[in-house]
Amino acid sequence: MCGIVGYTGPNNSVGPIIEGLSRLEYRGYDSAGICLKVENELQIIKKEGKLDNLKELINLHKPFSHTGIGHTRWATHGAVTTDNAHPHGNEIFAVVHNGIIENATTLKKDLFHEGYQFKSQTDSEVFLVLLTKFFNEGNSTLISISKAFSSITGNSAFVILEKASDKLYAIKRSAPLVVGENREFREAYVSSDPFALVGFAPRIYFPEDGVICEGIVTGSEVTVNFYELDLTHSNRYKFQSNSMSVDATSKGPYEHYMLKEIYEQPALIDKLAAYYIKNEGRKILDEMKGFRAQEWHITACGTAWHAGLVIKNFLEQVNHQKASVDIASEFRYRHPILNHGDVGLFISQSGETADTLASQELCKEKGIPTFSIVNVEGSTLFRNADKNFLIHAGVEIGVASTKAFTLQALTGYLMGLAMKGSLDDSLHYSEIKLLSNRISDLCGQSDFIKDVAEQIYTKKGFIFTGRGKYFPIALEGALKLKEIAYVHAEGYAAGELKHGPIALIDEDIVNIALVGPELLEKTLSNVEEVKARRGIIVVVGPKNHPEVEQIADAYIPLDFNGLQNLSPLYVNVALQFLAYHIAKLKGTDIDKPRNLAKSVTVE
Ligand code: M6R
Repeated sequence: MCGIVGYTGPNNSVGPIIEGLSRLEYRGYDSAGICLKVENELQIIKKEGKLDNLKELINLHKPFSHTGIGHTRWATHGAVTTDNAHPHGNEIFAVVHNGIIENATTLKKDLFHEGYQFKSQTDSEVFLVLLTKFFNEGNSTLISISKAFSSITGNSAFVILEKASDKLYAIKRSAPLVVGENREFREAYVSSDPFALVGFAPRIYFPEDGVICEGIVTGSEVTVNFYELDLTHSNRYKFQSNSMSVDATSKGPYEHYMLKEIYEQPALIDKLAAYYIKNEGRKILDEMKGFRAQEWHITACGTAWHAGLVIKNFLEQVNHQKASVDIASEFRYRHPILNHGDVGLFISQSGETADTLASQELCKEKGIPTFSIVNVEGSTLFRNADKNFLIHAGVEIGVASTKAFTLQALTGYLMGLAMKGSLDDSLHYSEIKLLSNRISDLCGQSDFIKDVAEQIYTKKGFIFTGRGKYFPIALEGALKLKEIAYVHAEGYAAGELKHGPIALIDEDIVNIALVGPELLEKTLSNVEEVKARRGIIVVVGPKNHPEVEQIADAYIPLDFNGLQNLSPLYVNVALQFLAYHIAKLKGTDIDKPRNLAKSVTVE
């Protein structure tokens, strides 16, 4: 969602701000802007559309400023226009915002009656106006921030620039925020994502909710101060060194990040297995030996929710433990029954997804332990969890999640084996090695899957079907296709088709049928039902299977031999390739699909 980068220091702030915003482009946005302090003026340059539009304006003006803030906006309140783009500013302050001010309408009405004017339709400007009002009443900047922040509800992060100084201020509630320091070059940074600060700020701080951060650069040093809302000094923040490398974020020889991330999977699977079975991660798994939850409440969004469905199957079938899976935005409001002995298991790539975090909070309030399966170490989910299982996927830049799904599901599987006490080093290491080898083979067949994509990419709609352990993969395959190819795609349990969706079938609808070795005959009967109604059949199924070959209009043959529990992860990679090639043929923006954000920090 919205990306924030701020800088103060001896150099031109424009470079690091634009570089930081470019790195956050993958998160999704629809307009961009920058505010620079130039000779005691707050100069705002902003533009709707891609960051390139803003860069063009910047190139035209060539501004120089030691202090500035930048923002990429993903619209929530108010249309995508230049006026609604951030920063919002006046002659005293400029503000960028990520999140939603829930009581903005009421506050705006009150401020309007007090004579304040608004230039945009955003909720964010309400914070600017509040800040200005408290400042005009004679309060210091810090007190004004504290009062404005205390007046608003909802989850938000703000970064504030003032005309009167070169300080950077920031504050947040349940939204990502990181403050960075480079002591060598006397620079202070602030961002919504540590990734933006890689290579710039070796020291980073994660403030807790309601902590005011103040970055100051003087002639000889850089200081970051933290205050409570009553302006006493705060120690509610976590320090971390920023160990990410810029190389890890390059596209390498691949045309898209998504493709690179699909290809990374075999090596990452091997690495994860080595980490949890042989190396440091083993200790975390050994602590799980014999652990049982009365009920697992698995909660996540989007692709991570699909990984949750795969993990539920593992927990039930491998561990015989009860597990329910919820979409986080539903879980948080459906008054779930949470009992002593239950565990909340939260799955997230970013660890910053608003609904997932709120669901975690709910479990904490009810006193049940929360575990995470998460990619970003130090994320809010990670920090708030009682136990973390990192998936070690590295940075995932493609908005369409690929490698994170595979590693989330695999981590859940390993966690299950550890609880069962049956984590056998050589047996499971080779089982997982078999998976990575098969995925590697599949990567070699990408061109073949491209041929299949060519046969079907112009069709009207796509119905993915699967039974049992392939049902979550049908959902995930359909999600991947719709998000990057902008075509209608649905995932169904194969046996459910005749209960309604079969009405959609005609010669312009493709059924991507996931046919595993289990329940093969039953699944093929469902495929026959679609074929009888002139639907186009693409089977992702066992290789050298005459019946499958005969029924399919196109066929992605897979070698299921020996994979057993892990075969859904293998099938899923075939669907990642299929979605990728269809999207490519359609010419969409694969890494940054329209309307989407990588990290969804609003509910
Ligand atoms: O960061 P998270 O894993 O919590 O994100 C959850 C979803 O927003 C995410 O998986 C989304 O569905 C992806 N774009 C799917 O490819």
